[in-house]
Amino acid sequence: MSMKIAIAGSGNIGKTLARHWQAAGLDVQFTGRDRILELASASDVLVLSVPWEAAADVLSKAGDLTGKIIIDCTNPVLPALEGLSVTGHDSAGEQIQRLAPNAHVVKCFNTLGWAMIGPGADGFYCGDDAEAKQKVATLVAAAGMRPIDAGPIRNARYLEAMAMLWIDLAIKRGRGATFTFRLQDAS
Ligand SMILES: NC(=O)c1ccc[n+]([C@@H]2O[C@H](COP(=O)([O-])OP(=O)(O)OC[C@H]3O[C@@H](n4cnc5c(N)ncnc54)[C@H](OP(=O)(O)O)[C@@H]3O)[C@@H](O)[C@H]2O)c1
Repeated sequence: MSMKIAIAGSGNIGKTLARHWQAAGLDVQFTGRDRILELASASDVLVLSVPWEAAADVLSKAGDLTGKIIIDCTNPVLPALEGLSVTGHDSAGEQIQRLAPNAHVVKCFNTLGWAMIGPGADGFYCGDDAEAKQKVATLVAAAGMRPIDAGPIRNARYLEAMAMLWIDLAIKRGRGATFTFRLQDAS
């Protein structure tokens, strides 16, 4: 798979994805704060693993994203983890698609804690472009995870709510960060 991947955000999520993808032999680079334009322009995929509040800033610096895939990992979590700042008939994923209308936004890697990204976890993803989703599914698999197609980008509102439930269970209910949601078909 010859995909060039630029990762904006080299924190927990960005570093973990890079580690898995580099182990799988993929071409991955971090944009840092000052190489966003250069690396986004040279890449097929831009990963947004920055705080939600920084997403618009990154996009404004990324240049022409026409036809590129944006993997949106963000969750618009309120301070003190009291809930989501974008709710109802909208989501961070949908806002990012509106901010970058010529790119193909795929929401992914937001429904589990960073330490659980890897073999055994389900990777729920949603987006509007079938080819972009197929490519992101291969990146989910390259991280050792099972790709689960969760529908159009409109369903980002559900994936973000799912993430909020994960955060609530992990932190407020004291379950800890070592669990994931897994889709289980009845046999
Ligand atoms: N942590 C999780 O388990 C988890 C799980 C699912 C989804 N998420 C979501 O994934 C995103 C990243 O989470 P994280 O835990 O990886 O965060 P993090 O460890 O705090 O890392 C955030 C990264 O974003 C960079 N950044 C911040 N503002 C920026 C800007 N304006 N331009 C460029 N880079 C910027 C930071 O750079 P500096 O070091 O220079 O500040 C840092 O490298 C968040 O939206 C979060 O809600 C997190």
